[in-house]
Amino acid sequence: ISLKGYNTFGFDAKARYFCEVQNLEELKEAISSPLAQTLLILGGGSNVLLLEDFPGLVIRMNIKGIKVVEETEDTVVVHAGAGEIWHDLVLFTIENGWGGLENMSLIPGTVGAAPMQNIGAYGAEVKDTFIKLEALRKQDLQVVTFDNAQCKFGYRESFFKQEGKDQYVILGVSFKLKKNPSVNTSYGAIKDTLNEWGISAPTVKDVSNAVIHIRRSKLPDPAQIGNSGSFFKNPEIPIIQFEELQKTYPNLPSYPINPETVKVPAGWLIEQAGWKGKKTGHVGVHDKQALVLVHFGGGKGKEIANLASEIQASVYEKFGIKINPEVNFIPNFT
Ligand code: EPU
Repeated sequence: ISLKGYNTFGFDAKARYFCEVQNLEELKEAISSPLAQTLLILGGGSNVLLLEDFPGLVIRMNIKGIKVVEETEDTVVVHAGAGEIWHDLVLFTIENGWGGLENMSLIPGTVGAAPMQNIGAYGAEVKDTFIKLEALRKQDLQVVTFDNAQCKFGYRESFFKQEGKDQYVILGVSFKLKKNPSVNTSYGAIKDTLNEWGISAPTVKDVSNAVIHIRRSKLPDPAQIGNSGSFFKNPEIPIIQFEELQKTYPNLPSYPINPETVKVPAGWLIEQAGWKGKKTGHVGVHDKQALVLVHFGGGKGKEIANLASEIQASVYEKFGIKINPEVNFIPNFT
């Protein structure tokens, strides 16, 4: 079966075996099958680069359901099945006026994939509202719970990308939201958009609308042009190196991490290295956001991998900074 409709890059890689699971029983059955020796779990397919045909079983996670599981005067805990579309969960919370997820509006992918890489945008990350998740441990098919600390969240990182890699299937996630929220509009583009719209006391819905507006203006819609959002992580570099670079590049943006380290935007580095809007074969670098690699159709995942390593080499040559993909390569050769 072709996985073209199951990865947002739109690569036409094939899975030897494929199934979709709607509940825990189906998932257990699929994982126990001898066909699952070589296994790939797919959510929305928005963070994978399929380099070749997959020689084993691909399970598409489709466990649904959004419900309120706990409520106090000021907070509410919402639980969502791993197969729910992330943005549908965000919209559900916003329609209720609950705060916490609005800055992460319109991020592609599913709820189950969100904690894997601690998705984030415009000053918010999953870890800020995350309470717990349930996951199926593949080894003994037991359902186990992870709280916030156990997930070891970092910048686009978690336990599930490190020690726990390939050992668990996330089933559902709980988030704690505020019923009388204060919004976070510290990100410049959000402030500017709200000002433009003449909104001085924004609601969570206003912030969500602003985020949707900003994303639509910069990021390509995967339904139109294949992509997986930011392809690289923003690198962290020592302050000394940053100050040295500033002498040559006074406009180099940065965000403080700690007294010794700053984060610099990979999109800026890639643009300065001359890649923005470049096309090669069936792939290229997005013309409005250089951090996003795009597939125009009819190409192969390896073309993106090749483009990515050319970009890495060129950024390293120009700035002496290593940038690393945030997207998962399948199969993973590293
Ligand atoms: N920039 C450029 N040229 C570019 C792109 C960016 O100069 O082509 C500069 C911008 O001018 C700005 C800075 O880089 O000064 C940051 O750009 P932007 O605000 O677009 O954010 P980003 O750092 O490129 C990160 C996340 C996005 C998230 C945005 C907003 C990562 C890897 N990416 O991008 O997340 O939406 O911030 O918070 O951290 C994703 O992970 O898939 C994703 C889209």
